[in-house]
Amino acid sequence: MQNCLKKNDKGEIWDNVYSMNKTIWSDIPSKTVVRFLHALKPPILDFGCGYGRNSIYIAQQGLKVVGIDLSKVAVSLARNKSELLGLKNAHFVQGDEKMISGKFGAVLCIGVIHGTTKDKRDFIINSFHRSIIMKGFFILSCFADTDPTYSKKNEPSFHGIPVELISEKEIKKLFSRFKIITLTKKRANDFHDKPHEHHQWVCLAQKVFS
Ligand SMILES: C[S@@+](CC[C@H](N)C(=O)[O-])C[C@H]1O[C@@H](n2cnc3c(N)ncnc32)[C@H](O)[C@@H]1O
Repeated sequence: MQNCLKKNDKGEIWDNVYSMNKTIWSDIPSKTVVRFLHALKPPILDFGCGYGRNSIYIAQQGLKVVGIDLSKVAVSLARNKSELLGLKNAHFVQGDEKMISGKFGAVLCIGVIHGTTKDKRDFIINSFHRSIIMKGFFILSCFADTDPTYSKKNEPSFHGIPVELISEKEIKKLFSRFKIITLTKKRANDFHDKPHEHHQWVCLAQKVFS
């Protein structure tokens, strides 16, 4: 596993990714977000919002959303798109888990935690738990340990960012302070760089314990 990234390198790597391809996962919102729209009670936190495809979709449904992302390029793309569309209910902040403050009816974390270390994942999920109101929802998707693209290589990485695939056991541990409403493993096809397949955990959970 590569562990030579310096403290701020990740944000810079993501800046480069988005500078090369401004809509790397297209402008279409994640299927997970569309599927669980009914569980999105505002205000919503979109953690690791990227260029805002999910936040913008949510704001277009009339819901208030705050997107946080490490990458200043991504945040600027998300702000510009949101301004262009005249959305007043989407706000974007550059930063990481330390920026999470306030209370949310739902937290979204789409495609983020497999790019963080295990310690950080625990910290991030605890921060989500603290920020979600009682009966509020947590929606997550991440790469599973059977992922055919990243499990093939000895040192899987995305543009130099280490990818840590996540087992069902770890998912259940991460969600131990939530009630899991649904947990499924989905196949998905992706087309950036070159066509490839992923296996993703998709989870809807509810905060029922303080
Ligand atoms: C695969 S992209 C997904 C973007 C977006 N969720 C989507 O579905 O289009 C992962 C994003 O998470 C962001 N990210 C990774 N670690 C983060 C952290 N600790 N705090 C905030 N953002 C983070 C990256 O900058 C990147 O934009």
